[in-house]
Amino acid sequence: MYDILTLNKISQIGLKELDDKYTISDSCENPDGIIVRSAAMHEYAFSDKTVAVARAGAGVNNIPVDECTKKGIVVFNTPGANANAVKELVIAGLMLSSRKVAAAYDWCKTLKGEGENVGKLVEKGKSQFAGPEILGKTLGVVGLGAIGRLVAVAANGLGMKIVGYDPYFNEALKDQLPADTEYVDSLDAVYEKADYITLHLPCTKDTKGMINADTMAKMKDGVRILNFARGELVNGADLVDAMSNGKVAAYVTDFPSDEVIGVDGVTALPHLGASTPESEENCAYMAAVEIRDFLEKGNIK
Ligand code: MLT
Repeated sequence: MYDILTLNKISQIGLKELDDKYTISDSCENPDGIIVRSAAMHEYAFSDKTVAVARAGAGVNNIPVDECTKKGIVVFNTPGANANAVKELVIAGLMLSSRKVAAAYDWCKTLKGEGENVGKLVEKGKSQFAGPEILGKTLGVVGLGAIGRLVAVAANGLGMKIVGYDPYFNEALKDQLPADTEYVDSLDAVYEKADYITLHLPCTKDTKGMINADTMAKMKDGVRILNFARGELVNGADLVDAMSNGKVAAYVTDFPSDEVIGVDGVTALPHLGASTPESEENCAYMAAVEIRDFLEKGNIK
């Protein structure tokens, strides 16, 4: 018999993989395994009985991995399980960054009550929301993992040129990327070439704050930046400065912070990338299978 603690609402599709040998609860004090989505575990007091944590998601920054490693607790994630959901929102983000959709939508609401004048006001006011097409523009994809690759393929399908960078890239992955992708070996090369930059990498001590005054200075004027990876990759104060002088034309992020909310040109969403029923099921399924394989067979994948 195994005790499993769930620290967030985990899809039943996944939990069904754990049969009658498992007791699943959201309040178990001495679990063998833990399944977590985005609950912060840095203050969590691990029981000596716990041997595995499975994150139903890609990033593991809500889990104290070093502490788990010292205690011999295996930490799993579910790479790729939510990649399509994130890709779809990034494609929406591309449009939001170009066509001022969010600002235009807000402005239309201010016309409520204008009666027969609405049509005239729309035609008079619309020019402030004009924005460029993405066709033929260059998208810099930083991080060519499961999400970055799907984004590259979808954006290429919409007519964008792809410049890809990933320090851990392996040649075999080229089959999963558009044939005309330009691979570069430095972030500076991405910054120099891209009209749009999308981030698909974890936040580590090396990547935290990587988008800052110095790196933005290397980008094209009017660059548009998409961050559906982690908020801390971008230095918020530097970004706000770069937006005020037009260096950055738009920032679309799934990680709002007090600094960027409400700034002209910023579109902030409440961490919705993986929030689809399909992705929640995929992640829960993969996490449950990982925990089960480890507890029953000792397999670590
Ligand atoms: C992830 O790390 O997989 C994403 O941020 C999605 C999520 O945590 O909901």
